[in-house]
This record gives sequence, structure tokens and C-alpha cells, in this order.
Amino acid sequence: MEQIIKKLYDTKDISDSSLAELLKSEDIIDLLHEYALKRRKEYYNNDVYIRGLIEFSNYCKNNCYYCGIRAENCSADRYRLTEEDILSCADDGYNLGFRTFVLQSGEDLSYSDDDICHIVYKIKSAYPECAVTLSIGEKTKKSYQAYFDAGADRYLLRHETADNAHYRKLHPQSMSLENRKSCLWNLKEIGYQVGSGFMVGSPYQTDKNLIDDLRFLQELQPDMIGIGPFLPHTDTPFAKYSKGSLVKCLNLIAILRLMFPYALIPATTALGTINPKGREMGLKAGANVVMPNLSPVKVRKLYELYDNKICTGEETAECLLCLRNRISSVGFNMVTDRGDVKPHSGI
Ligand code: 5AD
Ligand code: FES
Repeated sequence: MEQIIKKLYDTKDISDSSLAELLKSEDIIDLLHEYALKRRKEYYNNDVYIRGLIEFSNYCKNNCYYCGIRAENCSADRYRLTEEDILSCADDGYNLGFRTFVLQSGEDLSYSDDDICHIVYKIKSAYPECAVTLSIGEKTKKSYQAYFDAGADRYLLRHETADNAHYRKLHPQSMSLENRKSCLWNLKEIGYQVGSGFMVGSPYQTDKNLIDDLRFLQELQPDMIGIGPFLPHTDTPFAKYSKGSLVKCLNLIAILRLMFPYALIPATTALGTINPKGREMGLKAGANVVMPNLSPVKVRKLYELYDNKICTGEETAECLLCLRNRISSVGFNMVTDRGDVKPHSGI
């Protein structure tokens, strides 16, 4: 095992069979985490970047079987923020020190491309030194280009799984892995900093699927990589499936850090939900981003992708203080600049 990890550290590459061995291990592999932490420090010191997350609508036209805000979930209490609400969240965030805003929603067709462009443009004009990240799903290349021209810097779109058969088990016929991948390539071509990723322990996932996910990421060379454990939501077809494994997710964060040393890797909310210290553990395994919630408290509980999501009660300021303490409790330092990706050789 030690040889495999050392080689991964030295070469950033690893064979399928070695990956399979690392993934099989159910214990936290201390050495893996040690090397990942070392690599993380070489590239990003002790810095942890924060992103202000604005979940501006939980309407979604899609029906992913795992997701709590899927269109067919009639129990979901739906909301939409107006442009004014969104700008006011960004303003609060700016005053708290945020220099990246992530605008996330379900695939909500009631916002036109012009609406999105206008929101992006307003935020970028008010705070030119800030980065705007969009996470609003699959759109045409023309739409992506329009948002980019309006000032959007980054885009998050997890590929969810790189295997066709597995993709079919997680999504209805109306969605396709082919389209998802082509969206990611379009975003790259346009010039966005692109984030992708997947859930760990989603129903029917095998270690072979995870290896394919890592291979797809090697092709894509994304700037950001978000992973988190699958967590069931009561009102979805996957309500009865077991949650993903914390340990596996942590090991994968460490593997990602070693394969993609430059990457911005968040310690996700799902990780903090599966274990009260999950995000701290994520940072120690190599993650270097956290994404506190800037959405108005009155809608936070409603953006419920899975059960028992954390941080839905507190004001952002409280969240931020709590996060700063959590980050320093594991020896890191929360920084508030834009936190762009380090230059890397991705296309
Ligand atoms: N458990 C964990 N993560 C989820 N996501 C969606 N539903 C769930 C769930 N039940 C993740 C998906 C999506 C991201 C915004 O949240 O990977 O891309
Ligand atoms: Fe909205 Fe999956 S349910 S994109």
C-alpha cells in the first residue's frame, strides 16, 4: 500500500488495480491522508477558501432519483428569490468578507438567460473584484456563452457518474450522460473555471464506477472537484437506500488531492451532514474550500437535496464564525480572497 501511495504522490498517476486496492480499504489510510496533506500544503499552504452559496431557487424541471428537489417531489415547498433578494444576499456576503458568490438553483426555466445575465452583471458591476460561480445545470452552449459574456467566471456541474449504465440507474430517460459531458466540454471551451464531481456511495455505484469517475476527471482536468457522500431524501425513489461511506469519501478526497494537486476541492455540506466533524476531516484529507450558505434563513431549509442538511438555522455571520473556528481547530487558515485555481496544464 505504501508503495502505491508514494508512487501516486511522485507521479500523480495510478493504475486501475492500485486504485481498486486503495478504494477497497475500509479504514482511513493514514499514510494516504498524510501524503495528501503534504501535497495540499505545497500548493495551497494552510489556506482554506470560502465561497458564499446563494441557493436562489429550488424549482427543478428534472427528476434525478436521488435529489430532494426533483420536479415530482410534490412535498417540496418551492421558492424563488428575486433579483433583488439575490443582490441583497451578495451584499451581505460582501460585507462579511466573501469574494466569491456561487449562484445555485435547480433547473428552473422561469429565469431566462437574460435574467441570469442581468443578475451576474449586477453582481460583477457592484463588486468587480469578486468571482461569480454559476451552478444552474445543463444549458446550451449559447446560454453558457451569454452568462460568461455577462461576467460569470466559474461553473459547477457535477458529472455525477461517468458510467452510462450507472447514469441510467440514477436518472430518468429524459437526461443523458452524453449531454452532461458535452456541457462540461462546452464550459471549458468558453473559458470558465469548471468544477465537476460525483457522489460517493450513490445507489448501485461500484468501485469500478469510481475509477471511471477519476479517469473522466483526468480527461476533463477540472479546476474544482466536488464530492460528497450520497444521503437519502425521504421523498425520493432512493429514500430507502443506504448513505455513502464517510471513510470512502475522505479517502477519495485524498486520492483527488494527489491526482489533481492544483484543484479546489470543497469539504462539502454533505460531508458535514454525515458526520458533525466531517468537514474538518475533509480538510485534513486534502480539501481546501468551504461553501457557507448565504441564502436568506427563511428559505434555507427548503433547499433540501437530502435529509437533515446542516446549517439551515443560523444566520450566515454565525455560520462563518463557526466555520472559522472549525477551520482553525484543524490547523488551517480561512482566507477571504477570490481563491482562483493555480495554473495547471489542463486544456
Ligand atoms: N445526497 C448527496 N448529494 C446529493 N446531491 C443531490 N442530491 C443528493 C443527495 N441525495 C448532489 C449532486 C448535485 C449536487 C448539487 O448535490 O451531486 O450535483
Ligand atoms: Fe434537479 Fe437533478 S433533480 S437536476
